[in-house]
Amino acid sequence: MTSLFLITSFFSFLALILARPSFAAVRANSCRSYCGNLTIDYPFALDYGCGHPGFRDLLFCMNDVLMFHISSGSYRVLDIDYAYQALTLHDPHMSTCDTIVLGGRGNGFAVEQWRSTYFNPTPDNVFMLIGCSAQSPLFQGFPGKHLPCRNVSGMGCEEYYDCPAWSLVGHKKVGSVFGSGPPECCAVPFEAIKAINLSKLECEGYSSAYSLAPLRVDGAGGWSYGIRVKYSVQGNDEFCRACEATGGACGFGSDGVTQLCMCGSFNSTTTCDSEGSASSKRTWSLVVALAGFFICMSM
Ligand SMILES: *[C@@H]1O[C@H](CO)[C@@H](O)[C@H](O)[C@H]1NC(C)=O
Ligand SMILES: *[C@@H]1O[C@H](CO)[C@@H](O)[C@H](O)[C@H]1NC(C)=O
Ligand SMILES: *[C@@H]1O[C@H](CO)[C@@H](O)[C@H](O)[C@H]1NC(C)=O
Ligand SMILES: *[C@@H]1O[C@H](CO)[C@@H](O)[C@H](O)[C@H]1NC(C)=O
Repeated sequence: MTSLFLITSFFSFLALILARPSFAAVRANSCRSYCGNLTIDYPFALDYGCGHPGFRDLLFCMNDVLMFHISSGSYRVLDIDYAYQALTLHDPHMSTCDTIVLGGRGNGFAVEQWRSTYFNPTPDNVFMLIGCSAQSPLFQGFPGKHLPCRNVSGMGCEEYYDCPAWSLVGHKKVGSVFGSGPPECCAVPFEAIKAINLSKLECEGYSSAYSLAPLRVDGAGGWSYGIRVKYSVQGNDEFCRACEATGGACGFGSDGVTQLCMCGSFNSTTTCDSEGSASSKRTWSLVVALAGFFICMSM
């Protein structure tokens, strides 16, 4: 009677263990981390070898401040929106409604060629280029000398001129067709010029603002200043989803290209189940042997 009870409880215990979806799924993601109050998760990572290879050497955490580093410079990350796959960046040398920073000190926004497929400022982000020379590539090659400057998502220089910062600097209003000199400020979407490089564009400064639709704020004083960047892993999300579903953490190999699924004691080029199946077979034979032992003991 006691042995029957023992066997029953042993098998209920086994059933309990085996019914759990996976031991692996319980493992903590070794690549997830924090910087201040920001969560760093796939495709981003702070440790080399973690995250997506296109996002390597990109984020750095310094004194709880998350920094984003690309060829045009370093930016503070204000927010990572994983649901909309967007980042909000801040450049300390960017002009806002309160200050105009001249002297070409701003970063602008330009990424390395190999990284450019992974990042793009959003279409509703406006870049307002300030104090560009008449020889600027911005004003060359437009038929009829029409300026490329325009409003982006309802944001443009006309409204920006109403900011308190402009009352300190002062500006001369010029029409939309140049001849009397370029405007003090020219608003463009990123798509129009592909790189905001102040030295190449011969501009003194810039500002960047974005609107989080469908919110519409009247006046430049109510705009959000910063660079809103859309990121994408270019459709190869499948690897990581499958890896994480088996309890792994997504990373890449030392070549900086091959994606790896990190499963604690081993790395897999697929998921944690692929190699785990061998060890679960071992577990099963152990179970069978133990069961046999218990049955013999109870006889
Ligand atoms: C994170 O902290 C900053 C101040 O350090 C604050 O402005 C921001 O709202 C916080 N974000 C979240 C999501 O709590
Ligand atoms: C910006 O343009 C200058 C001059 O053309 C060039 O030397 C520099 O490398 C560019 N910077 C970036 C980040 O592309
Ligand atoms: C941009 O919008 C402002 C305010 O709505 C308007 O006055 C201005 O003409 C627009 N500029 C361009 C270039 O469309
Ligand atoms: C798995 O890959 C990562 C990243 O390349 C490496 O840091 C780690 O040491 C590897 N782990 C094992 C068990 O090989």
